[in-house]
Amino acid sequence: MAILYTVLDDHELASRHVAGLMVSTINRHPSCTLGLATGSTPMSVYENLCRRYQAGELSFQGITTFNLDEYVALPEGHPQSYLAYMRENFFDHVDLDESKTHLPAAHQINENVSATVISDRYENEIENLGGIDWQLLGIGVNGHIGFNEPGATIDSPTRLVDLAASTIEANSRFFETVGQVPKQAITMGIGTILKARKIVLLATGAAKAEAVASAINGPVTSDNPASFLQTHSDVLFVLDREAASAIA
Ligand code: GLP
Repeated sequence: MAILYTVLDDHELASRHVAGLMVSTINRHPSCTLGLATGSTPMSVYENLCRRYQAGELSFQGITTFNLDEYVALPEGHPQSYLAYMRENFFDHVDLDESKTHLPAAHQINENVSATVISDRYENEIENLGGIDWQLLGIGVNGHIGFNEPGATIDSPTRLVDLAASTIEANSRFFETVGQVPKQAITMGIGTILKARKIVLLATGAAKAEAVASAINGPVTSDNPASFLQTHSDVLFVLDREAASAIA
């Protein structure tokens, strides 16, 4: 299945477009389940959503959320954790019911509770609450989605993963030293992501151009995990000109 894509002039317009899609989804389905992403790319999507919430355009009260991933080996709420990111950029500014927001509880892993238990629990929770209606994705420079690095299989579930060296390097900008970047994470699997009813991937900037082009035009291969999105029937890539620049 060909991946549909739309190209906006720049990062801000692309983010505004994605926020607009989310707002209309929420207004049509006020108790839907959203899959959420982190990283620097979706920050302005969250900014737009907060602004539109403050302007009274929508309410998140009935919304359930599941984040894609969380670092392992950071204490709960560590400033660089994805939970802290979500609180700072989104949760603390809107009327979401905190009990309906979910991230993998990676901080609960210990000698008695394995990463597999935490991962299976997350996968089951998503399923028990009816699955994800609308999934937001970013993309890594190596084509990763969530933290599904090259090598991930199409049916992979939520699980513990090792981060690729390039991902650790790319994410070191958020930490004081590269040595502080966690080396593992719990991520929704490709299989988990593909179960979402609708998927919107936002990519901006020239660094993403190759990964985006091969996800859209290249073979379906675990060398580029985002290429698995070609097998889904309702995927939209929202790109800025730079991220779209390598598409044939
Ligand atoms: C991170 C996240 C992904 C994100 C990607 C790109 O490591 N786990 O969900 O899409 O890498 O991040 P950025 O938007 O900062 O380029």
